[in-house]
Amino acid sequence: MIRDIERILIARGAISDRVRALAEEITRDINEKEDEAELVLVAVMTGSIIFVADLMRNLPMKIRIQLMTASSYVGKTTTSSHDPVVGKLPDVTGKHVLLVDDILDSGKTLTRIQGELETLHPKSVDTCVLLRKKLPSAMAVPCTYVGFDIEDEFVVGYGLDYDDYYRNFPDICVINP
Ligand code: IMP
Ligand code: MG
Repeated sequence: MIRDIERILIARGAISDRVRALAEEITRDINEKEDEAELVLVAVMTGSIIFVADLMRNLPMKIRIQLMTASSYVGKTTTSSHDPVVGKLPDVTGKHVLLVDDILDSGKTLTRIQGELETLHPKSVDTCVLLRKKLPSAMAVPCTYVGFDIEDEFVVGYGLDYDDYYRNFPDICVINP
């Protein structure tokens, strides 16, 4: 194992079970909103890259995917340094939207993007994160679907990075850089 990796926090099998369960919940809820509803997945890059790819393959309805960029951690740091820099907004007017991100930490990224999407008058906006840190900041952000609540540790793998490395690890691991 690579030196910086301290331990596996959530193994790949547990992740895929949870992703399947989240997809079932999302499917049930959207069908309650509207018959044959279509969904626009707005995926926050780069951290949600693996999560959204797995999630969408478990969703049976008609889907479009839009990628957005946002970044708040730059370089070799494990503390979010500034307000997130958010890229171009996708076209979501009149659509049911599911905003997908990897992790809720300060909550600034999700809150900011959700607020910006709302200004485009979508039919609905729900939010989905794979991980949420047990921090007052993160727990205070309303989020429709949460995969796992985790302790306040810096994690990598399954799309999450440290200095842009380790996104390829199939398990979610605690890092000690
Ligand atoms: P927030 O805006 O502080 O909630 O942070 C959101 C972004 O910071 C996430 O989308 C991640 O890209 C990144 N982030 C926060 N915590 C971690 C972590 O433990 N590991 C890797 N990236 C993280
Ligand atoms: Mg991110």
